Amino acid sequence: MITVDSLYVEITDKCNLHCYYCCRNCESKNNHFLDVAVIDRLLLSSKGCGVKSVDISGGEPLLHPQINEIINIIPKYNYRCTLLTNGVLLSEIDFDIIKKIGGIQISIDGGNAVTNDKTRGQGSFNRIVAGIDCILANGYDSKRLAFKMTITAQNYLEVGQLGKLASFYNVSNIGFSFIYNEGRAKEATDSFLNDEQKEYVLEELKKINLEYPQIMVSPPGFTDECPLIKGDNISLSPRVDVHGNVYACQMFEDNFSIGNINKQDMIEIINGDKLFSLRQLIYGRRYYMPECSACFLSKKCNRGCPGVAAHSGCILGTDEMCHLRKIRQIDYMKSKLKGRT
Ligand SMILES: C[S@@+](CC[C@H](N)C(=O)[O-])C[C@H]1O[C@@H](n2cnc3c(N)ncnc32)[C@H](O)[C@@H]1O
Ligand code: SF4
Ligand code: SF4
Repeated sequence: MITVDSLYVEITDKCNLHCYYCCRNCESKNNHFLDVAVIDRLLLSSKGCGVKSVDISGGEPLLHPQINEIINIIPKYNYRCTLLTNGVLLSEIDFDIIKKIGGIQISIDGGNAVTNDKTRGQGSFNRIVAGIDCILANGYDSKRLAFKMTITAQNYLEVGQLGKLASFYNVSNIGFSFIYNEGRAKEATDSFLNDEQKEYVLEELKKINLEYPQIMVSPPGFTDECPLIKGDNISLSPRVDVHGNVYACQMFEDNFSIGNINKQDMIEIINGDKLFSLRQLIYGRRYYMPECSACFLSKKCNRGCPGVAAHSGCILGTDEMCHLRKIRQIDYMKSKLKGRT
């Protein structure tokens, strides 16, 4: 059986920032908005699929002209609402609306203006912290805030700074992800991290964990096995784009759409042919990935994330996390050997 745990809904492609790596090519001249009536129908039709929470993203979701209505309808279905925002407009939204949001994830690419503004644009850091200060001053609980940093070759040395800022604001969670090759990032070839830089980041994040044990640190995810093929009973977190196209998760786009909410109900989409075929293709990666035949993990590894592989040119390629997967396995084997001696 296939269920849906949460929805990730991109309500606009418009944005007031112009991050040079933006995977959705968002900018101020874009002008698409998912209508509140369409979102309402999506929420209603997803009821029977097991949904518990809804992430509102974009573009910059706070630019949606019906943002207040959208935030108001989500709790009516008993879904938890999380807002994913660049934070610069937080001080301009009515606090009666803000307080209805279950959690707010704010993207900050470093713990100070110099680092953050390299990727998010000149002056953005000061506007983000002004937004945070404003909602905290109005009584928003800092434990309902999370920070999110996208790590590039330009900012990876400074991940520790974000730990400091998160501790200062007493937020509950900091998430990190490595830049992936989508949208404007395709032009930013000097921003991708090499294996050693990725390794460095993971070591730094362990230090943040030790220094600030009260904060949950979510390192860049790398999986052995795509959740879409973990048995017959799977639970999805589908992405819905601003045109209503649905994808099996946030990492898929374009040709990998599995349906459209303007034409189908969610239950029909998750039980449809397109998701079935995508899952077959992902199962097939085990047998068709040329890089894997000579790898010592070949029998054990379930070939990582097909979405990242697709961004990099071919779903039958690797997800560029093989080095980290191998050192993790070597560390594991070393610790086993140590245990025996
Ligand atoms: C597309 S934005 C939309 C929400 C909001 N505008 C924001 O920036 O948080 C959602 C998240 O995707 C991240 N992101 C954008 N482009 C990316 C890329 N090429 N690789 C990895 N993460 C990316 C952003 O940094 C942000 O944390
Ligand atoms: S990452 Fe977010 S803030 Fe940056 S351009 Fe894209 S949508 Fe806007
Ligand atoms: S670690 Fe990479 S190369 Fe090795 S089996 Fe897994 S996907 Fe293939």
